[in-house]
Amino acid sequence: MTGKITAPGLTAVKGRGEKIVAITAYDSCFAGLFDEAGVDVILVGDSLANVMLGLPSTVHASLDAMMHHTRAVASSVRRALIVADLPFGSYGASVEQAVKSAADLMKCGASAVKLEGNFPEEVKAIVKTGAPVIGHIGLTPQSVHRFGGYKVQGRGDDGQALVEAALELEEAGASAIVLEVIPAELGKEISKKLRIPTIGIGAGVDCDGEVQVMHDILGLTKEEFKHSKRYIEARQMLSRAVEDYAADVRDRRFPSKDNSF
Ligand code: KIV
Repeated sequence: MTGKITAPGLTAVKGRGEKIVAITAYDSCFAGLFDEAGVDVILVGDSLANVMLGLPSTVHASLDAMMHHTRAVASSVRRALIVADLPFGSYGASVEQAVKSAADLMKCGASAVKLEGNFPEEVKAIVKTGAPVIGHIGLTPQSVHRFGGYKVQGRGDDGQALVEAALELEEAGASAIVLEVIPAELGKEISKKLRIPTIGIGAGVDCDGEVQVMHDILGLTKEEFKHSKRYIEARQMLSRAVEDYAADVRDRRFPSKDNSF
């Protein structure tokens, strides 16, 4: 894909049979780096609650925090589509609440918002105001307490409900749908049935794109996940670099005369 990525443009990408590459980012430095590396979508995920703020789950992400990090990401991204998550409690009570929360994120620099679950009326109303919406179904982390843990969703007969939810979200005007931790066959079926693209995370090889949490693919987390792949062991490398810095300072190798004025 060349040029600025837009939400309506994602369907054309699917039409060309090209894969959509998405990654989370929460600050200006990493967002700018990923944009220059050529990813198509930068998601300001509510996963920031876990990976950036050290909170127990995404249930703890606030709209204020999402707005703050969306502004930071928007400051350095030129080409990628910036999608910001509507956090738990910022939608679901009324259509008006969802529209207001989406507008707050768009004013911080998002070019689309993402919401979890099957909320077609909210999607329709947000799209009507001019903001594109990305759906998100399957293992939606904001519902972890209802699911009773982080478990594969859509197994057996439950799969049909996810197919129907995907079709309803498409009908409501969603620009794409994230499929999280569902059986690969179901990911394939939903991707085939939809005109809009699916973006998978733990949803098999047949989705129209892939999204990953930056901390997982860069090896910044201690934990490793089946749905992810570590492309670098950044935690170890960064830790070694800081140990070297500390040793240099303690042994008087840094700062040197070269670093002096
Ligand atoms: O918040 C997030 O990082 C997400 C992805 C896991 C899809 O929603």
